[in-house]
Amino acid sequence: MNEHEKELIDRLEREHSLTEEEYARLIDGRTDEARQYIAKKADAVRQAIYGRDIFTRGLIEISSICKNNCLYCGIRRGNKNAQRYRLLPEDIYACAESGYSLGFRTFVLQGGEDPYFTDDVLTAIVSTLRERFPDCAITLSMGERKRESYEALYRAGADRYLLRHETADADHYRMLHPPEMSFEHRMACLQALKEIGYQTGAGFMVGSPGQTSRTLARDLKFIETFKPDMCGIGPFIPHHDTEFRDCPAGDLYLTLFLLSVIRLILPYVLLPATTALGTIHPLGREMGIQAGANVVMPNLSPVDVRKKYELYDNKICTGEEAAECRGCLARRFSAIGFNLAVSRGDVKR
Ligand code: 5AD
Ligand code: FES
Repeated sequence: MNEHEKELIDRLEREHSLTEEEYARLIDGRTDEARQYIAKKADAVRQAIYGRDIFTRGLIEISSICKNNCLYCGIRRGNKNAQRYRLLPEDIYACAESGYSLGFRTFVLQGGEDPYFTDDVLTAIVSTLRERFPDCAITLSMGERKRESYEALYRAGADRYLLRHETADADHYRMLHPPEMSFEHRMACLQALKEIGYQTGAGFMVGSPGQTSRTLARDLKFIETFKPDMCGIGPFIPHHDTEFRDCPAGDLYLTLFLLSVIRLILPYVLLPATTALGTIHPLGREMGIQAGANVVMPNLSPVDVRKKYELYDNKICTGEEAAECRGCLARRFSAIGFNLAVSRGDVKR
């Protein structure tokens, strides 16, 4: 690590900000030594705010039906081989019940943009969960919707919303998405979510086709200025039924480096060690935590549908019961000195 690199990292730690050019230089110039140096700082920052607690979110993948056609995604509309399913409201409540007894106090309903989940249907589900689990946070990750829809869901009791921006570079966004999707609309949705009062999550894939240190620098600048409460980043992993099938997966060490950078930009951010990170390396999630992450999102979906929610190839934990994943994660994190918290795990601000 040269002096310049060290100076950038030290300044990022102090000021939580660099210019876009500096972010790009930090990424291009990174060495193993710099990655370890920044991970240490990120670990200390997370520790000072959140201690040794790792927050868990019970992820319920409610539908693999999607009207969108994002080029990277295995459940894109155009994938005729994808297996489609949708959970009924009763299935969702059952997942939440079992999750609650395992110690989950946040439920994340995630799914493709499935037209079945109209505002009426989804607000009814959210209200029911709100009533049955008053001490839990309800997070939605259901894609782009109308502002009125986000408002109705918020009134029904949803607390948080995850909508990755995917890339903060409009040209890059166009490379990853079909013409009917727009960067401006994605940004408008994120803005609306924040204004309505959701704890809002943005995020992006590391190593998506067409990504450069330039576009990543833009992602970091966007994170710095938008200040999301959550930031989901994980490696891109090719799916065999998409046209990106032959593209290489995102790099483990770059992902870890970026987790640390994001922790220094937004010390309070809730930062998951994602399933995708655990998919590209058997200890990916542990390394993510050690690089500054503090959230993990194991799957609560019924085992018989798990393989069908296949955004990318070789996804881990698709054969495990929820209880197995909870126990497995508790052991894994305690082995590296962390503790799986039983709490909503709200963002500190
Ligand atoms: N590899 C990694 N992550 C993916 N996602 C979608 N497809 C892939 C893939 N092939 C991510 C997107 C989306 C989130 C739900 O999953 O970033 O926002
Ligand atoms: Fe699912 Fe380890 S986290 S089995």
